[in-house]
Amino acid sequence: MSLLAANTSWLIACLNLTHSRPTDTKEKPMRARSLLNLFSKRTPRPPGLQLELLDDLDAPFKSTLLSMYHGEPQLGVDGQHHSLDETVKISPEEGMWLYEECRKSKPGRTVEIGLGYGFSTLFFLAALAKNNFGHHSAIDPYQRSAWHGIGLTTPKALAPPGRFRFVEQTSVRAAVELERECWAYDLIFIDGGHLFEDVLVDFFLYAKLCKIGGLVILDDMWMSSVKTVVSFVRTNRSDFSEVQTPIPNICVFQRVGKDERKWHHFRPFIVDQHQIEVSDES
Ligand SMILES: C[S@@+](CC[C@H](N)C(=O)[O-])C[C@H]1O[C@@H](n2cnc3c(N)ncnc32)[C@H](O)[C@@H]1O
Repeated sequence: MSLLAANTSWLIACLNLTHSRPTDTKEKPMRARSLLNLFSKRTPRPPGLQLELLDDLDAPFKSTLLSMYHGEPQLGVDGQHHSLDETVKISPEEGMWLYEECRKSKPGRTVEIGLGYGFSTLFFLAALAKNNFGHHSAIDPYQRSAWHGIGLTTPKALAPPGRFRFVEQTSVRAAVELERECWAYDLIFIDGGHLFEDVLVDFFLYAKLCKIGGLVILDDMWMSSVKTVVSFVRTNRSDFSEVQTPIPNICVFQRVGKDERKWHHFRPFIVDQHQIEVSDES
């Protein structure tokens, strides 16, 4: 890692970062790559899923999540069952952290960017159902085109009435509407687009929608793009304070005040230089 002292070198480093994908990705025409490939998390497969962690969940959330973690085909919006891309999910540890946090803090409003098949959504809804309180919004413009609507079908069926809304828009468009409607959130989970600028823009827009005392959680700390956004927040956003967790793949910030930076404020931050090789092969 290197500490960049000036905006120009930061920009160059960012360009290097976003262009540091494996060469085989560049050789493929964009049209030949499925939408699914754009959002998959093709990390080395973890040694095993700790499914026993789900024991604390109530039915039907536990059985549904077990079925999904076992890779069983799930119901799409077309009424058909579809197999799952097994790389697209949060881990049971992460999911249970979200669940326990929601059980503990009993948030009134939660929002997540990026449903995929709806693993994270189901952990949120399980907590909300148990709390008998709260409302969860989930934002994803590609739910039908890339995921057969699985991340919509199951949560819609299991959510307590009136407590779940699906926003079929990009996170950017959704943020503008939510701000206009004066929605403010106790807990915000960012797991949408994973390019550096996607994550940065999601943090920038949704930080404004976070209540003071609320949490913003960034997923996929294994990615250089996410680590670099986290580095920016740690260094430049004193209105957010980092909360330590035992889950290495997430970074949690609590909003502790208003953003009162002067217009010229900028603190150089570390750009992660250790991009993990990611395969786009299906
Ligand atoms: C890795 S998946 C999310 C996995 C999900 N959180 C889970 O636990 O199963 C990333 C999701 O982000 C969505 N996405 C990509 N770009 C987005 C954007 N600009 N706004 C909102 N969602 C986006 C994709 O369609 C995909 O469903």
